[in-house]
Amino acid sequence: MINTLFLQSEVADPYALYAEMRKNSPVCHDRENGIWAVYTHAACRQILASDMARIPPQSPASLPSMNASALTLADGFARLANPPRHAARRDAVMRLFASMRPVDGGRLLAELIPASGECDWVAAVARKLPALAVLRAFGFSDSDAATVLDNIERLTKIMLPNKTAQQMDGINAVAESILALCERQLARVRLDGGAQERGLLAVNLVGLLVQSVDAGRGLLCNALLQALRLPALPQGEGWQRLAVETMRYDPPIQNTRRVLSAAVEAGGIALPEGAVVLVVLASANRDEAVFADAGSFSLQRGNNADQLGFGAGAHACPAHRFTAELAAGALAAFLGEGRRVELLRPDIVYEPMVNARLPREILLRYSS
Ligand code: HEM
Repeated sequence: MINTLFLQSEVADPYALYAEMRKNSPVCHDRENGIWAVYTHAACRQILASDMARIPPQSPASLPSMNASALTLADGFARLANPPRHAARRDAVMRLFASMRPVDGGRLLAELIPASGECDWVAAVARKLPALAVLRAFGFSDSDAATVLDNIERLTKIMLPNKTAQQMDGINAVAESILALCERQLARVRLDGGAQERGLLAVNLVGLLVQSVDAGRGLLCNALLQALRLPALPQGEGWQRLAVETMRYDPPIQNTRRVLSAAVEAGGIALPEGAVVLVVLASANRDEAVFADAGSFSLQRGNNADQLGFGAGAHACPAHRFTAELAAGALAAFLGEGRRVELLRPDIVYEPMVNARLPREILLRYSS
């Protein structure tokens, strides 16, 4: 029986499963879960580029239990919007990016862990550094940044297609205060525009924080694990290549979803109007039709830019360069200074999530 919606915590090697699906059932109807799944690079790209492929709406069951601030956020995030409303939201995101100050991943890392000792990389670094980078890029005070960092993980559940009552409580508990902090901070940064435009900027600043948390955490973890497996550490630009090749080889966001507003043909199969489609980005990234020797991790790979780990089409991640540079800076500072790093528990356990592959903990001992 095919189960396209498995938990990452329950599958040791999802890539073997994706390879089997690309070979035997590249466009697959998972009747049990009421979803279609596409596994080849061509079909994933095609769905992401299609005007018929819409971001699924928030589950109607969750709407009545969202408070006013949570509804404002869900309504205003670029990531959750479809045309024609997406354009103004995407524009707000791009304006925010254009106003960010540069941040240095290595410097942030030094704030989070001591120069030597033992740590859980996930708790001490990966869960904090990406959102901290966004907060610093917008000049938040230390105390506001600490408040956001303490609460932002609860808000990330707003992106889930279905939320438990407990997740909804968490979202409602923090939505108002995080939105208020972002509104206040943007008033200081003085991005101009009318009230509606300023509203969208503040909401999408919350969106940047939310979007940075899980994905950024995953890249910092998965890239560290790849680096520790290399026979020799990269130098200079090589850290950036390590981050990008990790995004292809072991991407933190494994899949995303769309719902079809009209029938679409993909991989020779007609997907019906109304179909919910799981776009398996992590499988596309191992497709031999695009990536030679796709199962090998290679810093020399020339066509990394073709990977779909950051999505594609209208909703492609606007933070791909920012994130790769951040991870490269943090890892270069951590591993590139002759430090000895030992993985204390080499068996990695993953979070019980369907869409993201995030190590639960990575215990390290490291020298200065
Ligand atoms: C390794 C880290 C990251 C990964 C793997 C990642 C991945 C993605 C993916 C796959 C999408 C497309 C989703 C879809 O089409 O359904 C996306 C969109 C987005 N990402 Fe990222 N992302 C990362 C980091 C970040 C960071 C740090 C930020 C913010 C600073 C960010 C902001 C966004 C936004 C705002 C969108 C939605 C754009 C839109 O809908 O127009 N991402 N990201």
